[in-house]
Amino acid sequence: MRLGIIGGSGAASFLSGGQPVPLAAGPWGECSGLVRRVVISGHEVLLMSRHGEPASPAIPPHAVNYRANVWAFHELGIDHLLGINTVGGISPDTACGSLVLPDQLIDYSWGREHTYCGSAEFPLQHAEFTMPFSARLREQLLSAAHRAGISLRPVGTYGVTQGPRLETAAEIDRMERDGCDLVGMTAMPEAGLARELDISYAICCVVVNQAAGRSPSGLGIHAEIAAHLAAGLSQAEALVEAFLSGS
Ligand code: HPA
Repeated sequence: MRLGIIGGSGAASFLSGGQPVPLAAGPWGECSGLVRRVVISGHEVLLMSRHGEPASPAIPPHAVNYRANVWAFHELGIDHLLGINTVGGISPDTACGSLVLPDQLIDYSWGREHTYCGSAEFPLQHAEFTMPFSARLREQLLSAAHRAGISLRPVGTYGVTQGPRLETAAEIDRMERDGCDLVGMTAMPEAGLARELDISYAICCVVVNQAAGRSPSGLGIHAEIAAHLAAGLSQAEALVEAFLSGS
């Protein structure tokens, strides 16, 4: 199996190493960075860091070239594409450090290049998006988690904000009323673009802080992120390993 992974903030060390994969220039401009190839449990894993190379200034969420990134994986012929996304927890059962496999999305982002449609090579389509993530890939990830004893919340609604600023407490209250369990800045347009290319796509979210106005610790969001990022990402890495070893 060939698994593509787009890693989020802090993912520089996630599955680091590996050989850069040559990529032909695509029609949508520059990707966030190199695609690196590693082999895990006999499977090829192609990894890109969504916010750019570790040595470069981080690309903010609204400026990520999602079209180029997803296109690159399409060209590389991956079987599945997995996003690793750090998020803030809104629902009470989304504790810091925990993993969530969302099944739904609400997109509050704006002004991003969000479609391939509109050219002769890519005519208009209205991609069906009722269920924004691949049901099969989600099931495989859930059974991998079960096998490996990794606890995760098996469903959730991810609300995508524009960033890069964090939200106000009132914005989070509104998102909760809308049904969001999580808040992050990058699941869209990535998921929509993957669907336009018919890629089997899902995301694994790592809760690194409680959303604005929700933290009982009073630590502040950045301190929470610093405290939970590494452990949460290593759980996500364990999930990827369990998924691959069972495939
Ligand atoms: N809000 C938006 N995006 C995020 C957060 C948050 O609280 N935490 C990590 N990504």
